[in-house]
Amino acid sequence: MEAAAAGSVPGAAPGARPGGAPRPAARHAPAARVVVTGAGGMLGRAVVERFAVCHDVVPLRHADCDLTDARATRDWLEGCAPRHIVHCAAWTDVDGCESDPERALRANSFATRNVALAAQHVDASLCYISTDYVFDGAKPGPYREEDPTAPLNVYGLSKRDGERHVLRHCRRSYVVRTSWLFGPGGKNFVRTMAELLRARDEVRVVNDQVGSPTYTLDLARCLLALVESEFYGIYHLTNAGTCSWYELASAIAARLGSRCRVVPCASAELPRPAPRPLNSVLEPWNYRASGLPMPRSWRAAVDDYLGVLAREEDR
Ligand SMILES: NC(=O)c1ccc[n+]([C@@H]2O[C@H](COP(=O)([O-])OP(=O)(O)OC[C@H]3O[C@@H](n4cnc5c(N)ncnc54)[C@H](OP(=O)(O)O)[C@@H]3O)[C@@H](O)[C@H]2O)c1
Repeated sequence: MEAAAAGSVPGAAPGARPGGAPRPAARHAPAARVVVTGAGGMLGRAVVERFAVCHDVVPLRHADCDLTDARATRDWLEGCAPRHIVHCAAWTDVDGCESDPERALRANSFATRNVALAAQHVDASLCYISTDYVFDGAKPGPYREEDPTAPLNVYGLSKRDGERHVLRHCRRSYVVRTSWLFGPGGKNFVRTMAELLRARDEVRVVNDQVGSPTYTLDLARCLLALVESEFYGIYHLTNAGTCSWYELASAIAARLGSRCRVVPCASAELPRPAPRPLNSVLEPWNYRASGLPMPRSWRAAVDDYLGVLAREEDR
C-alpha cells in the first residue's frame, strides 16, 4: 500500500497562503445533515469533528438512543432527517463478544439492521464501519473487498451480519472495513503500549499477527471524502503499510526512546478467549480506484498520535 500526504485530503482549514494569494475553497459537497452513531466512541468522535468542518453533524450517543430498539432508532432518525448516516456504534470488546454472543449479535447485527432499515426509510445514505475480523486470516496475501468472508470469532461474525443487513436493506450504502484503530478518546494498543513501555522493563508482544494500524483522524478524513463521493460499495480503508503487533510495539518504543525490552512471541503463547486472524491486511482496491486521496503511512500516523499523547500528559 502506498502513502500520500494527509494534507492532500479535502477538509484542510481555509486560510491565507504565503504571498497573500487566497487558498482555493475546499471542494466539498454542499453542507448536509449527517448523523454519526457511536459518537461517544474513539472513531465516532473523530468523525464528528472532521465532518463538522463542512456539514451539519448530529452526534448520536448510546444515551441518546439505543440502536437495538428498532422503533426508537427509526423515530430518532426520522426526527433528524439526515442526508447521510455514519454508523460507528458497535460493541467492540472482542473477547467480551466471545463470551456473550447474544449481546454481540444484538449490538452489532440487529442494531445495524435497525439503522439500515431506518436509513432507507428516511432516504439517507449509510456508511457502516466494519472490520478486518470478517476474514479468517488464512489468505497468503492482502484481502480484496470481494474475497469471501469467514469470521473466526463472534465479534467478526456479528459485524459480518451487520454488513449483510446494510447491503440488503439500504440502497445507498458503503461498507468500510478498517483495522487496528488508535486515536484520542479510546482504549487502544498504541496508548496501552506507550504506558507499558514506561512502567515495565520487558513486554512480550505477538509477532505472528500482521495488519495495518489505522489512525482515527486519518480514517475520518477518508470517510468524509468517500461519503461526499457517493461511490457506494464495499471499501478497505487503513493507514498505508503493514506490520505485526510486535513491530508496532517496537516502533512505539523507538519513537519514545524507551529502554524497555520488547520481546516477540507467538499468539499461542498469549492465548485470548477469541481467536484472531493471523493476516489482517486489507487491500484498498476499490478506494484507490475511486481516485480519492489515499491515507498516509501508519508510521507517520503513530508518530503524530504519540505527539498528541505527550502533549496531553504535559497539560
Ligand atoms: N477498535 C478497533 O480496532 C476497530 C477495528 C476495526 C473496526 N472497528 C469498528 O470501528 C467502529 C468504531 O470502533 P471504536 O473502537 O471507535 O468503538 P468504541 O470506542 O467502542 O465506540 C463504540 C460506541 O458505540 C456505542 N454503542 C454500543 N452499542 C450501542 C447501541 N446499542 N446503541 C447506541 N450506541 C451504542 C458505544 O457506547 P457505550 O460505550 O456507551 O456502549 C460506544 O460509544 C466499530 O464499528 C468497530 O466495529 C474498530
